[in-house]
Amino acid sequence: MSNILIIGSGGREHAIAWKLAQSEKLGNLFIAPGNAGTEEVGTNLNIGVSDFIGIKKAVLQNKIDIVIVGPEVPLVEGIHDFFLADDDLKKVAVIGPQKYAAQLEGSKEFAKKFMIRHDIPTAAYESFTKDSLEEGYVFLEKLNPPYVLKADGLAAGKGVVILEDLQAAKDELTDMLTNEKFGDASSTVVIEEFLDGLEMSCFVLTDGENYVNLPNAKDYKRIGEGDVGLNTGGMGAVSPVPFATDEFLQKIEDRVIKRTIDGLKKDGISYKGFIFFGLIRVNNEPMVIEYNCRMGDPETEAVIPRIKSDLLDLFVATANNDLKNSIIEIDNRSATTVMMVAGGYPEAYENGKVITGIPSVENSLVFHAGTTKNKQNEIVTNGGRVIAVTSFGDDFKKALEQTYVNVDKIKFEGKNFRTDIGFDL
Ligand code: AMP
Ligand code: GLY
Repeated sequence: MSNILIIGSGGREHAIAWKLAQSEKLGNLFIAPGNAGTEEVGTNLNIGVSDFIGIKKAVLQNKIDIVIVGPEVPLVEGIHDFFLADDDLKKVAVIGPQKYAAQLEGSKEFAKKFMIRHDIPTAAYESFTKDSLEEGYVFLEKLNPPYVLKADGLAAGKGVVILEDLQAAKDELTDMLTNEKFGDASSTVVIEEFLDGLEMSCFVLTDGENYVNLPNAKDYKRIGEGDVGLNTGGMGAVSPVPFATDEFLQKIEDRVIKRTIDGLKKDGISYKGFIFFGLIRVNNEPMVIEYNCRMGDPETEAVIPRIKSDLLDLFVATANNDLKNSIIEIDNRSATTVMMVAGGYPEAYENGKVITGIPSVENSLVFHAGTTKNKQNEIVTNGGRVIAVTSFGDDFKKALEQTYVNVDKIKFEGKNFRTDIGFDL
């Protein structure tokens, strides 16, 4: 029996909690800080994801065996290193890489250098700082539009800017480097070649030596129908990705996944946790757009329900460096997720709107993202992305139909969602 603490409060963390709660080997399940959904399957602890001291107390008090880190911020801040450096905590397994390896997500430049070093296909690039601004302009002049500028560090999903106009690209570069548009995160900027193609994501769970492939997925990041408008955390997801043929997946495995795991080993970088490969298909070849050191959200809400195996077994195997003996069983059906968001999101929005209709949902899964309970014990909105609905189907279209039937039943003031998830497939 294992006692588990999940760090985070989104739909991803609810999906992981929901899945772990089905394991017969689960002892007690805690989620910090969690949401109104995680409370149904475990115990929420009112501790922030970066409050390492608070997390330590909770781990010792509740005799936690495994900590699963949902979001990137505590990983990039070094939560795993914090555990390893503490005599009381070092026996506790942490699923999520140490700070150095988390740079695969935390530093675009680190990730690009890693990919180039290990011959992993990615867009050509150069990186610049305030001192090499002029060289940055010259590099932009050599590229064809559109221009892709990436703040090196974490910028809450807003650090990538794509522009058609050369002068606008130069102005953006100046803004990022000299005016610190994204603070410290843009003190270095990666400029890279624009890649044109369909995007998808693959996920593995690794103990640093071996890995298991999780189901792949495609997410929809823009707020507007037809993929226009501002970037969000993600408005919906489809798993598996229909265009990802066995042949294409084999290329991903050979050229991206294996080279990444081998590259980590060659570089002497230990890694325990999820790796998220953000990919784009160019001329039927996979290219890596980004790494994340965690699962995606809302991809997790479509991916986790398709895993038939006991997820707790997989985490225990990861903790014990024993993934080579693990087999993962996947449901062949499609799963689709639609995210309901607060009115105004991803710009300003209000919290505290009462959510109704969840009990009337049938034949779909409801994963809470930004929800909490008010004083009257009603479930209310508490974030931009509020609730994800996931359904199965023989193909993604059937799964989507079912999802939308139930999305219509859940109501709150200002509710918004995309009606066109999967439109490009
Ligand atoms: P990232 O934060 O690195 O995932 O980038 C956000 C989004 O920008 C990606 O999902 C892509 O849609 C787009 N993007 C990033 N890099 C490129 C590129 N080299 N070419 C085209 N689109 C890109
Ligand atoms: N949905 C994209 C992400 O989690 O980064």
